Order: sequence, then structure tokens, then C-alpha cells
Amino acid sequence: MKILSVVGARPQFVKLAPIDRALRDAGHEHVIVHTGQHYDPALSQVFFDDLGIAAPDLNLEVGSGSHATQTARMLPGLEDAIERHRPTWVLVYGDTNSTLAATLAAVKIHQPVAHLEAGLRSFNRRMPEEHNRVLTDHAADLLLAPTPTAMAHLTDEGLASRSRVVGDVMADVLLRVRDAVRADPPVPVGISADAVADEYFVATVHRAENTDDPDRLQAIVDGLAALPAPVLLLAHPRLVATAARFGIPLEQGSIVVAPPQPYPTLVALVQDARGVLTDSGGLQKEAFLLRVPCTTLRTETEWVETVELGWNVLDGDLSAVAELATRPTPAPTDAHPYGTGDAAGAVVRELSAAADATALARGAA
Ligand code: UD1
Repeated sequence: MKILSVVGARPQFVKLAPIDRALRDAGHEHVIVHTGQHYDPALSQVFFDDLGIAAPDLNLEVGSGSHATQTARMLPGLEDAIERHRPTWVLVYGDTNSTLAATLAAVKIHQPVAHLEAGLRSFNRRMPEEHNRVLTDHAADLLLAPTPTAMAHLTDEGLASRSRVVGDVMADVLLRVRDAVRADPPVPVGISADAVADEYFVATVHRAENTDDPDRLQAIVDGLAALPAPVLLLAHPRLVATAARFGIPLEQGSIVVAPPQPYPTLVALVQDARGVLTDSGGLQKEAFLLRVPCTTLRTETEWVETVELGWNVLDGDLSAVAELATRPTPAPTDAHPYGTGDAAGAVVRELSAAADATALARGAA
């Protein structure tokens, strides 16, 4: 099999790592196309280096822009790459503009598309990610769902016949890196030893609905500033830019502003934290897998299992950030809704099994 993966943003590089490894271990050809949606070394290159991912075969270097501009800029380069490689599958990841662009480019030239992390829903149609994932699921040929909950959403939308549950590849990489950093802890980037000497929290904020709304951003900063221990705010460039534009200083009260961290460093910081506060989907799951209480700064989550099992709470109106983040530690659980670290192997098996059937169906059409 020849797989052409399209990635562009930070969480996609994390998901790419176990897939790249599993494909190469099984002797398949893997072509990696980076759209260039994320271009800062701290959001991109460092993940390839630390997670041992092969260098991209192609980088389209599209950079930042409005949704339309960014997505449109990706399309010709993706079409060209897919046309040139004619892979068995174009593999797209998650819910970013890179995911949607690759899906559109591929289906228009009748190239089979598999969607990893299919079936996630927030049911909030104001989120760009919700448009991206719904449209991708309905256009793609093979839907690889991380959980039974995601599978149920696909079934509800009439997509069951081309959907499979494979587990969550983010658990694969998290569990591997967790064990590695326990043996050899990495040094945090741009964070003083004092800030992590005792109890501390880890926070990230990057979603448009939080960063681009001055009232919500102010409420988040106020909540984090009021926490009773240092809050390492790992600041995405979008957060830094909009806070400056609105005149909201980030370094207030307990907040310690720090740069985005490499993945192993993030895992090491989270596993020793008192709690996590975030609007990131990946970090909600990482906190759960490391059994660190999470407070989610959103009105809904796609990762409902983390809430049902008691390790994640939503603070949609941001009225109780400090109170929720200091709640007692939840009851222990040995549930593993995201699998036990072997999802990438299941993905490769499903791609392989579905390849012949898809080729046949398209040939007959
Ligand atoms: C994107 C994804 C989001 C994902 C997130 C992970 C979409 C619609 N959103 O959001 O689902 O959770 O990545 O981080 O695809 N910027 C830089 N350097 C970079 C990249 C971005 O400075 O390397 C700045 C630019 O000002 C840019 C802004 O961040 O305009 C937003 O970047 P963008 O890629 O559009 O979306 P993210 O917020 O990163």
C-alpha cells in the first residue's frame, strides 16, 4: 500500500507519529505532505524531531490567512501531489483546514480518502473545526473512529457502512512518551525551575471562540490569575496576538506565560501538574490518560468520556474557573475509552482491508 498523509497543524503531527511508525514497520510506502498551516518551529519542526517522524516529502508553505484564503491556497498543491503519487489512500487527520482541503482535493479527482479521528462532534456549528470534520466525514470513503461514541455519531448520520472503530492513536503516542519521560525527564522550555518546584497548573487557550472574544479572554485570564499556585500558560501565537490586540496583559496574578512546549516536555509537565485548564481537545485526553484533573474552558467537548468518568469538567460560561480547577481529585478509574496504545496497528489493518473493496467499487462506478 501507498499512503499519502496530509498534515498541517500541531495535533496532526502528534497523530502522524504512531501512524508513520506503524506503516513503515508493516513495509508500506508513506508519503507525508505538510501544508505549512503551522510554520513556527515550536508548533511544527520540533514534533517531527522529538517524535521521530520522517521529514515531510513536500511542504506547501501556505502559512496563515482567513479560512477561505488558507484553505484555497492548499488546494492546487494538494491536488498536484495526490495526482502525482496516486496513493492507495489519502489519509487525513482530525478537523483542521488542512484536513478539509486535502479531502476536497482528493475526492474531486476520485482518489480514496480515509479520515482518522472520524465521528467527533461538538454539535457547535460556530466552530470551524465542526464544519471541517462533518464535511470531511461525509466526503471520505473510510471513516476511522476513535471511540464507540464517535461511531454512534457516524451511524446517526447514515455513515456506518464505511466506518470502523480503531481506537485513538493519541493514546498510542501518549503512553509511549509517558514511559520515556519518566525514565529521562526533559527540561521545560522557557520555564524557570521555581515555577514548577511545587504545586502548579498547566493551561492552554487557542480556540477562536476564546481568543477572539475579548470578554471571554478577559474572563479566562481573570480565572487563571486567581488560582492558588503558578499557572504555566503555554501560549499559542494566536493567544499572544489577540491578547495584545485587546490590551489584555497575560502575565497577571498566578499566570506564568511560557512558550508552547515540545510534546515530551508537555507530557512531563502535565503528569506532575495539580490540574490542567484548556480548550484543546488533545490536552483534555492527555490529562485524562495521565489521570490529572482537567477543567475545559468551553461550552461542550467532543471527548465526552473524560467528563463521564469524572476527570474533566466544563466551565462554559467561565464563571467558576478557579473553583473547578481546585476541586478534589476524582475517583480513580482503570477505564481506557481511548484504547491501550495499539490503535495505529488497527488503522493500518483497516486501510489494508478496505483498499481492495474501495478500488473495486470505484472501478465499477
Ligand atoms: C489550528 C486548527 C485547530 C487546532 C489548532 C492546533 C483550524 C481551523 N484550526 O488552529 O483546530 O486545534 O490548529 O494548534 O484548522 N500562527 C503563528 N504561527 C504558526 C501558526 C499560526 O503565528 O505556526 C498564528 C497566526 O497568526 C494565525 C493564527 O496563529 O493566523 C491561527 O493559526 P491557524 O493555523 O489559522 O489556526 P490555529 O488557531 O492554530
